[in-house]
Amino acid sequence: MHILHVVGARPNFIKAAPLLRALGAPAGARHALFRQTLVHTGQHYDAAMSDVFFQQLEVPPPDFNLGVGSGSHAQQTAGVMLALEPVLLEQKPDLVLVYGDVNSTVAAALVCSKLGIRLGHVEAGLRSRDRSMPEEINRLVTDQLSDLLFTPSADGDENLLREGIDPAKIHRVGNVMIDTLVRLLPLTDAHLSAQLSTPYALVTLHRPSNVDDIPWLRELLATLADLSSQLQVVFPVHPRTRQRLDGFGPEPGLGSRLRLLAPLPYLEFLALQRYAAIVITDSGGIQEESTFLGVPCLTVRENTERPITISHGTNQLVGRDLQRLRAAALEVIKGNSILQKREEASHHRVPLWDGHAAERIAEIILRGAA
Ligand code: UD1
Repeated sequence: MHILHVVGARPNFIKAAPLLRALGAPAGARHALFRQTLVHTGQHYDAAMSDVFFQQLEVPPPDFNLGVGSGSHAQQTAGVMLALEPVLLEQKPDLVLVYGDVNSTVAAALVCSKLGIRLGHVEAGLRSRDRSMPEEINRLVTDQLSDLLFTPSADGDENLLREGIDPAKIHRVGNVMIDTLVRLLPLTDAHLSAQLSTPYALVTLHRPSNVDDIPWLRELLATLADLSSQLQVVFPVHPRTRQRLDGFGPEPGLGSRLRLLAPLPYLEFLALQRYAAIVITDSGGIQEESTFLGVPCLTVRENTERPITISHGTNQLVGRDLQRLRAAALEVIKGNSILQKREEASHHRVPLWDGHAAERIAEIILRGAA
């Protein structure tokens, strides 16, 4: 059986890594169970956003790089579709696996369904119910087109059933991003920055809703800079956010109050996250990782497609409300937070987030192939 994986953006690499391992040759076996082909769309192309992840995650170099790069949503999605179609026609995979909710994911899903190739979606069923988010559109379309839907948690199953997806296609397997975290967490201490003083807050922001609205971004950065009177604020800056910062030239002195870093490799970022006093983010994956690690997380969004990180984890939505962000951050820093009291029972608090999700997916694929 020939399985072709399509990845394009940083979080895809982290999610595909455990699948490539689980579908590879079992220890001691002479042959792999499946023939595997890896296609990188090139959506993320900087060395810091791509190559270093392949190295640290021990993902083999892609068999194909479509070199699609950046552009408008239509350009990027269409670019992946045009470049992927001939590869699929030539490779004739039995199954294509796509990951998460980025433009590369939906583009690959559309090409597969038109060519009649079976499609598996890893991280199916997540919904923010906010269609102004490009990722929500990508999730809705990809799930409708998929033959195998691998969900990370029960809310994913419920969302899919509500949308009329055949229950026989839905498989609750857990969270593959946590598989990678579990495997690599023991390596993180060697990647800790020696120059950090504790305690510190870790910030990431890259969603268009936060970084493309310049007046809002200015106020948000000023609020984060105020927090730096309480603790060091470390902020690895995504390329999209960097472009905005370069464009408007932030307040003088901001750089001395916020520790602005280049995008970090996986292990360096995980090390920072593990020991952070608090994480402030608009990322999806970081809401999940901080829940697993038991680190309090404030999400600067009005909604989340990962509500389990609130009900079972350390996540709290602060919305577009800087007073709320400030108050919630100060509460965590003072140590009064409900979130912090939950920390002790951190690991394995979400069912099936245990490091074995990819193995479950491999078993399901194997059973289907038999
Ligand atoms: C994409 C995903 C988002 C995911 C994020 C993870 C979509 C719609 N969005 O957002 O869901 O959370 O990846 O990082 O697919 N750029 C570079 N170098 C790179 C990549 C991007 O400089 O290697 C710059 C480009 O100028 C580009 C901008 O960043 O225009 C945004 O990149 P893009 O891939 O369009 O979306 P992300 O914001 O990275």
